[in-house]
Parts: sequence; structure tokens; C-alpha cells
Amino acid sequence: MSIQYDEAARLFHLKTKNSSYQMKADSVGTLLHLYYGEAVTSDMSYLIRYTDRAFSGNPYVQRNSRCYSLDILPQEYAGSGVGDYRLPAIQVIAENGSRSVDLTYEGCKIFRGREALTDLPYVRGGGEEETLEITLSDPVIGLRVLLYYTVFEEEDVIVRSAKIVNQSEKPIYLEKAASACIDFPCGRYDLMHFHGRHCMERQAERMTLPNGVASFGSRRGMSSHHSNPFVILCDKNCTENAGSCYGFMLMYSGNHLEEAERDQMGSVRMVAGIHPDGFSWLLNPGDSFQTPEAILSFSASGLNGLSGQYHRLLQKRVIPAKFQHTKRPVLINSWEAAYFDFNAEKILRFARSAKELGMEMLVLDDGWFGHRNDDTSSLGDWTVNEEKLGCSLKTLSEQIHALGLRFGLWFEPEMISEDSMLYQAHPDWALKDPDRKPTIGRNQMVLDMSRPEIVDYLFAAISAVLDHAQIEYIKWDFNRSVANFFSAGLPARRQGELAHRFILGTYRLLDRLLKRYPDLMIEGCAGGGGRFDAGMLFYCPQIWCSDDTDAIERLEIQRGTSYGYPVSAMGSHVSASPNHQTGRAVPLHTRGIVAQSGTFGYELSPEGLPDAEKKEIRNQIAAYHQYSDLIAQGRYYRLNELDSSEDFSAWMFVSEDQSEALVNLVMTHIRANGPLPFIKLCGLSAEKAYRLEGTDQVFSGAALMHGGYSFPLPFGDYAASQLHFLETTIE
Ligand code: DGJ
Repeated sequence: MSIQYDEAARLFHLKTKNSSYQMKADSVGTLLHLYYGEAVTSDMSYLIRYTDRAFSGNPYVQRNSRCYSLDILPQEYAGSGVGDYRLPAIQVIAENGSRSVDLTYEGCKIFRGREALTDLPYVRGGGEEETLEITLSDPVIGLRVLLYYTVFEEEDVIVRSAKIVNQSEKPIYLEKAASACIDFPCGRYDLMHFHGRHCMERQAERMTLPNGVASFGSRRGMSSHHSNPFVILCDKNCTENAGSCYGFMLMYSGNHLEEAERDQMGSVRMVAGIHPDGFSWLLNPGDSFQTPEAILSFSASGLNGLSGQYHRLLQKRVIPAKFQHTKRPVLINSWEAAYFDFNAEKILRFARSAKELGMEMLVLDDGWFGHRNDDTSSLGDWTVNEEKLGCSLKTLSEQIHALGLRFGLWFEPEMISEDSMLYQAHPDWALKDPDRKPTIGRNQMVLDMSRPEIVDYLFAAISAVLDHAQIEYIKWDFNRSVANFFSAGLPARRQGELAHRFILGTYRLLDRLLKRYPDLMIEGCAGGGGRFDAGMLFYCPQIWCSDDTDAIERLEIQRGTSYGYPVSAMGSHVSASPNHQTGRAVPLHTRGIVAQSGTFGYELSPEGLPDAEKKEIRNQIAAYHQYSDLIAQGRYYRLNELDSSEDFSAWMFVSEDQSEALVNLVMTHIRANGPLPFIKLCGLSAEKAYRLEGTDQVFSGAALMHGGYSFPLPFGDYAASQLHFLETTIE
């Protein structure tokens, strides 16, 4: 039983393989958070110490006890306006203008399995998980909050969400509804978050949690390049391989907010959910609102341990089941090879050369529709530009398939160009405020995905293309931040719902397309990695990591991404050198090693390559086939600490049975007479012996993990080494 409930004590104990999570409804009815951390068997309510604190008021029922204050007690889903001055989990405006929410415990339900969410992505159950539903209520305003906790015992994960129900006779405006809120006892913590920008996504930053509030989020209508919906709270002494850490990952692709407050007493409250700025949801009597899910995980074995837990969960329970164990095709994408300058003849030449090199799928990127020859037109007009191609898409796809390649196509469904037939027909389909010119980004506007007729139009338009030609893959792009959050389809009092309704519309469209084309592989993309989140992974088994394809920059981007997301989801390609974004020259061998730690493909012209490069590419593809299982299904370990001053970046993969490992090292800075690159390996079996492939050197797992391994002195810019260890027997 992963959920235990002691009815007399009103004590809840959620147990995963290695962690415990405890809460208790006290005599007043406050749902207290008691503990989250390494597995324990004791009742942890002894941790609550009632203390008199000045300026921390007392609920009326406890007016004679100055030691009872919501401002001090650790809570599970904090209300607002009634004496807890820390971050609220929920905020409302009642019909009479009152903004207070005072939640008390009403009851609970425990059941096997979990209920699937209907409009939102969710962590897929396998039947063996258990779910706890706790009901809190505020009888004064007639509000009920159902808290859900699904315990994935094996995966060491607890998935939380909340459903807010208006049980009154009057409307209530929901102004904030967190997916999860949790209080940690006084201590010294660090916080990690993943910030960035276009072409430099998910940069890991670790900071001492200051007194006061640290908050990270996005108001861009997308989870964004700038702040990923994933944060980690860790002990000060937590390293990659040791120490306690907690992950909070929001399964959401729209506006989001992750907040951490270190209060007057040094306790820490974490709150994560939809960004409340601009959010306001009208709950009429009887209406309910379901929040996105928050995926919580705890590891006592450092950040690598925590990442492994997320990787396994996302692979097993979030990405579409069909792609969990499917080897992804080595693709060649036309974008950096041709940009908008192509016709069918050129694409077929690419396809022939790509096939000769061993590639398996050709993806035709932006520019095949409407009259689009640059980024100023045609978004929304998903009709094939046969004049530009010189043939129909059906003919092109047939010819590509005849060569033995699969075929993929680019779309940017949620956008509309001013210069498009769609905009001429439906100017009100673009998001814009009344009487105000819209904000333009990359020459385009954003479609109002909250409107069902627009989702219907896109479903029909995309289906028509998919029915016309044989297309196995879609690259689903999104190339600007959203502004002008105003929908011509919503009344004034509901405009605060638009940002959330927008993303629900996107999810609905993805869902409908996947139901109609269950074999279709959709790669998420948003000007690179602007929507790399667990919400999109529910539909897209892989997401293009960044528009920065420079292998050296990618080291940081892919490393930052790896804290929460599996390598099998990271779209990563070998591109030309010098690189188109940075002008940096990087050896092809190194570019191959970096792209291999992702979904692997090419983003360069495969024509006219020198023989040595063709040979290297064939070797890379052979290596991809040899290691793809180990890389996609194995355990991943970062081998440098964050911000270490080493001149290299190193990471490795270990098979589940620990019989095989692949170690990668890329030099980021070369020095004359420099130190030998030295690393300690992770995740091996200490007792096993491993032979280094290509040599007769045999090492024990213990030696490689505790004694480490030093590489020969590198020479030249950005050299890379790859070591393959296989279990052997010692004679
Ligand atoms: C942004 C994507 O990230 C690129 O790979 C490419 O598809 C362009 N958009 C096309 O406009």
C-alpha cells in the first residue's frame, strides 16, 4: 500500500520506494504538511512545534492560543487573506468582493489507479499506482478544493493537482490556483532553475535561497526559452551524486510560475502552477477548474539520482507509449541546409545523398506552403506550394519513399501571417485587443486557439495534407511569444481565461491529430526549445532542443535540459561547420558525439561532402545504431559538477543491467601543457569488471568510480573522446 491513512489521527503517509510524504489534518481542520524526504516509518507530527510569534495572528477558533498561527504552521495548500502572509496556493474574488479563502479538511478518498484528465496532459497510470483525494472546503464562500496525490511507488514520484469547485449559489473568480504547494522546515537550501533565451535554453543556475521570495516563470503564453517549468530545491551540500534534492516539474506548456519563499523563521514554501498574472477564471455555481499536474520527486542520492527518476517517469508514463521503445529514425532536416530556398529537385538530391550516407528520414522544413519564400507570409494557409516545389507533395513524398527514406513535414499551426488568405478571411482569428494594433513577432500573429472553430479549421487543414501525402513525422513549431491576450470569442469577464484556454486548444488539436493518426511522430519545437516541457512531451516523444546547433553551446543546453528531461526526448542534430549561429568551427567527430546524446540527425547539406566527412558520417550513423538503445534507455550521468572550472564537459550512459557504459568527453578549452582531463565514472557495478573496447584494458567498476580515469592530453580545438566499456570476466 503506497498510501496509508490513520483515520483516528487523520494522518496520511504516502510512500514511494525511497521516500515518504506525510500530512495531517489537525484538530482545527488545517491540513498540515509534516514531512517529505527519505523513507521513514514514524509519525512525523512531532516536528510541529506550536510557538507564539508576534505579528502572526490566530484564527478565531484559536483566539485563546497565541501559539496557533497559520502564518507559522507548515501547510499543504495555503489559503489567502486569513493570517498566513506567505505565498498563497489559491486566491479568489467572491461576488461580494471578498478575497479571503480559509480551507479546512472535510474528508478523503483513496483509490487504486488514477483518473485520466480530459483536457490536460497527465502522467499515465499503469493501474498499480494509488491516488489520494483530499477535500478541503471554505463553507463561507462555498468553495471546495480537491487535492489529488497519485503515488508512483516504483518511480519515486508523487503527482499532485487540484480541482477547485464552486459549490455556492454565486459566481466566484479564481485568481490563482496552484498545482502544488508544500512547506519545508527551517534549513539552508539551494534552489536550481533553468533560465535562458532563444538559442540558449535551460541554463542551469544554482543559488542560495534568499530570505523572501524567489520566483521564476513565464507570461509569454508558452513555457518559454526563458524559464523552464522545472525547479529543484536541494540541500546546501547536495552534489551530482550525493545529498537530498526535490524536483518540482509542472506538466504544462503555457504561462507558469514557480515560487520559493524563505520566511521569517527560515521555513521554505514552494508553490507551482499556472501564472496568476493575467489569469482570472470565472466559476459559475457548480463549475470546477482543474489545474495542470505537478510532478514531485525526491532523491537522497544527488542530482543525478533525481534526474534519473524524472527520465524514467517521463519515458514510461508521459511520452506516447508507442514511442517509448521505438528507435527514432536518423533524420536529415532541410532547414540549415536550404532555409527557404528549395524545390522538389533539390530536396530529392538531398534525399539521395542522405540515403547514401545511411540517413533514414527526410524532413522538409519551413517554406513548402502558401507563397512562403521567407518568414513574412502564408502561416495559416496550409496548402502546398506546387509552383515552388515543381510537383505535388504526394509526388515528392512518393519519390522520397521510393529511395527508402521516410518523410516528415514542418507546420506552425498556432500562427497566422498578416499576408495570408486565412487572415484576409478571418482577421478576428488573430489574438489582438479591440481598437489596438497587434504586436507582431517574426512578422506573424498568433491564432486564437481558445476558439473551437479555429481548432477545427487547423485539424481539417493539417489532416488534408496528411491524407494527401505519406507523412510519418511532423515538426510542430511555434516561433514567437504570445501578446495581446484578448479573444474575440470570449466575453469581457472571461478574458482572464484566454491564456489557459489557448494552451487547452493546442492540446486538443494535438490530441485529435494523434487519435486520427496514431502512428504519427510529432516533434515539438518552438523556435528551438521554447516549449520543452512535460506537457508537450505527453504528445511529442521528442522536442527540438534549441535553434543553436553549435555543438559546444549545445553542451550547456543539453546538460541543463538533462536535469529534468531524458536524452531520448532531446532533438539534436549535426550541423555545418563553421556553425550558422556562432561561426565556430568544431570537428565533425565532436559534433557527432554531442548530437548522438539526443535524438540524432543532420541539419546540413549532404551534397558534395568530402570523402573523409562522408566516411565520418557513416561511422557516426553506425555508432548511433550500435548505442541508440544504451543512450535512449540507459541511465544518464553528468560527470562534472555544475560550474566546475574544468576545461571539458563529460557525461555517460550505463545500461540498466550495468553491463555496458558509454562515456563522452568534449574539450571546451584547450591549453598548452594543460592538465589531463580526469573524471570519476558513475553508475557502474563496483564488483563487475569492464573491458575498454578497442583495447585489452580491464578495470573494475570500483576502480573506475573511485579511482577515476584520465584521458590522454588532447590537442586542437574542441576534441572529443568516447569510451565504450563492456562487462567482462576476469581470468
Ligand atoms: C524555428 C525552428 O526551431 C527551426 O528549426 C526552423 O524550423 C525554423 N523555425 C523555420 O522557420
